Amino acid sequence: MANDTILVTGGAGFIGSNFILEWLAHEPSSIINLDKLTYAGNPGNLAAIHSDRRYKFLQGDICDRDVIAELLVTYRPRAIVHFAAESHVDRSIRGPDDFIQTNVNGTFSLLEEARTYWSGLDDAEKSDFRFLQVSTDEVYGSLAPEDEAFTETTRYAPNSPYSASKAAADHLARAYFHTYQLPVVTTNCSNNYGPFQFPEKLIPLAILHATGGKAIPVYGDGQNVRDWLFVGDHCEALRLVLARGTTGETYNIGGKNQMTNLEVVRAICAVLDELRPDDPVVPHASLIKFVVDRPGHDRRYAMDIAKIEKELGWRPRETFSSGIRKTVRWYLENQAWIQAVNNGSYRQWMAAQYSM
Ligand code: NAD
Ligand code: TYD
Repeated sequence: MANDTILVTGGAGFIGSNFILEWLAHEPSSIINLDKLTYAGNPGNLAAIHSDRRYKFLQGDICDRDVIAELLVTYRPRAIVHFAAESHVDRSIRGPDDFIQTNVNGTFSLLEEARTYWSGLDDAEKSDFRFLQVSTDEVYGSLAPEDEAFTETTRYAPNSPYSASKAAADHLARAYFHTYQLPVVTTNCSNNYGPFQFPEKLIPLAILHATGGKAIPVYGDGQNVRDWLFVGDHCEALRLVLARGTTGETYNIGGKNQMTNLEVVRAICAVLDELRPDDPVVPHASLIKFVVDRPGHDRRYAMDIAKIEKELGWRPRETFSSGIRKTVRWYLENQAWIQAVNNGSYRQWMAAQYSM
C-alpha cells in the first residue's frame, strides 16, 4: 500500500462510513479503518466497497496502544482522521464510563502513538502529516435565543458527559500541537443527519417511529434548537480541511440551518405524508408525543461558519428540505439495514430510555 494511505478511526459509524464511501469515490489514496464495532459500528454500512482494494478494515480499540503502534508502523499513513467516539448524549447521561474511556483515554492513546510515529518520519513526511480531530459544536455549551452563534474563539463550556469528554479530547489534541508540534487540525461540526445514522438519534428515530405508527418522542417543549447539516456536506468539509486546513487551527462546520426539534419532526412527518400516505397512522404528525426532558438539555446550538467559508471556500450544498427528503427516502429504501440494527441491544436501549 502506498504511503498516501490515511487511517480512519470509527469508520464503521454514521459519519465515518459516509466519509470513507465519499473518500474512495473522490480520492485515489487508500484507507485503513480501525473500528471497535461497538453497538454503533456497522460493517454493513461499507458493504459497497467490500472488494475495493484500496480499503482495509481492522477491528480494534483506539485505547489499545499496541494495536495502534503496530498499525502505524505497518501502513505508514500520511494522516489520521479521528472519528471513533461514544457519540450519544442520552447514553452519556445514563452511563458516562465508556465516554471517558474512548473519547478521552482513547484519544490520548491515539495522540501518543501518533506522536511516536510522526517523530520518526523524515522532514517532508513530517510536514505533510495531519491528525484531524473530528469534534462537535456541543463543546461550546448552550446559547440563549438572542446569543450570537459559536465562533472558533468561543470558550468551551460543555454541559453533558458526552460534550465534556469531547472537549477533553480536543484540549489534548490542541496541547499536542502546542507542545510537540504534532500537525493537528480540529473541526467542530453541528448536528449531522443522513444515511446510516443509528436510530437512537432524533431524525432516524422519528422516521422509523412515524412509519411504524409508533409515538415520536419529543423531549420537553420541543423548542430546543440545533443546526442541522447533511452528512455528505460534513464529509466534503473534512476532506477540504485535511487538504488545505492550517495546522493548529480549528474550523467550525455547520448547516446555517437552525431549527427547533418540533420543526424538524414536523418536516419529517410532512415528507412521509407525501411518500407514505398508507402508513398505519396518517397524518404522521399526530404521532408526536411530548415526553420528559433530557437532564441538562442544551437549549440552542448555532454555528458561525465564516472562517471555513472564507479560508477554504466551503459551504453546505444541501438545504434542509433537499437533505431531509434524501434521508427519508434512504430509510424507506433500506429496510434490510433497519432490520439488522433493530436487534436486541437496540430494543433494550429503547425500553430503558423511553419505557416503550
Ligand atoms: P457513531 O456513534 O455513529 O460512530 C462511532 C464509531 O466509533 C462506531 O463505528 C464505533 O464502533 C466506533 N468506536 C467507538 N468506540 C471505539 C473505540 N474505543 N475504538 C475504536 N472504535 C470505536 O458516531 P458518529 O455520529 O459517526 O460521530 C463520529 C464522530 O463525529 C464522533 O467523534 C462525534 O463526536 C463527531 N460528531 C458527530 C456529530 C453528529 O451529529 N453525529 C456531529 C459533530 C461531530
Ligand atoms: P440527538 O439526535 O440525540 O442529538 P444531540 O443531542 O447530539 O443534539 O438529539 C437532537 C435533539 O433532539 C436534542 O435537542 C434532543 C432531542 N431529542 C428528542 O426530542 N427526542 C428524542 O427521542 C431524541 C433522541 C432527541
